Amino acid sequence: MTAEPVLEVRPSKAELVRAAAERLAEAIHGAQADRGTAHVVLTGGSMGSAVLAPLAEDPLRGLVDWSALHLWWGDERFLPAGDPDRNDTQARAALLGRVPLDPANIHVVGDPSAGSAEDAARGYAATLVSHAAPGATVPAFDVLMLGVGPDGHVASLFPDHPALAAAGSVTAVHESPKPPPTRVSLTFSALGAARAVWFLVAGADKADAVAAALAGEDLRTCPAAAVAGQAETVWWLDREAAAQVSA
Ligand code: 6PG
Repeated sequence: MTAEPVLEVRPSKAELVRAAAERLAEAIHGAQADRGTAHVVLTGGSMGSAVLAPLAEDPLRGLVDWSALHLWWGDERFLPAGDPDRNDTQARAALLGRVPLDPANIHVVGDPSAGSAEDAARGYAATLVSHAAPGATVPAFDVLMLGVGPDGHVASLFPDHPALAAAGSVTAVHESPKPPPTRVSLTFSALGAARAVWFLVAGADKADAVAAALAGEDLRTCPAAAVAGQAETVWWLDREAAAQVSA
């Protein structure tokens, strides 16, 4: 059972980012109040970093117990640690280097120094299962954020790509149509384990993908259509991205 999508539309990208950041801080605060900790999956791309930055500033900063926040990535570009194009490098600049997280709770994906993308996928899957409930392969992520490409990709799951059919929780991705070509991504199975899935989408170039996803298009041509949260699915959209789906 998954949650029907809810649209949160704001007039501009800036207003969208602010609203999503505020709700993210509130969601983390609530999860920590209920369970003592929170697990959040970050996304790469411009929206992924933009939503993180406001959390480093008060009042949002003060809502989060940074020592009890676990951060994961929905996908990672398979580049050397510290490479500016890695999602974790961009997240560190936006937020992680500005708040007192416990380094043990920042769960980055491996890099080429440790072997192949397949090795990194195996290692990330092992870390996920070590934080999961008995019988589960990934933690019950409190919020899993996803940017969406113009082609409807999410994480590093691209249309008509073999990775769409990957088993398990994490897969290596080769020949990505969006550079860099080699990546590591959560699979549909892992993405769908989240309590809340939030899509973060801005810009007119995404309007077709948003409409296709919400119309339930085939996952092979619109991977975003196949992802929903167990308890909540929110499409955070600016007016341009929502042009075909809301008044
Ligand atoms: C990546 C991202 C990717 C991204 C989308 C949207 O590693 O490239 O995870 O899935 O989220 O391409 O990116 P924008 O938000 O920058 O449009």
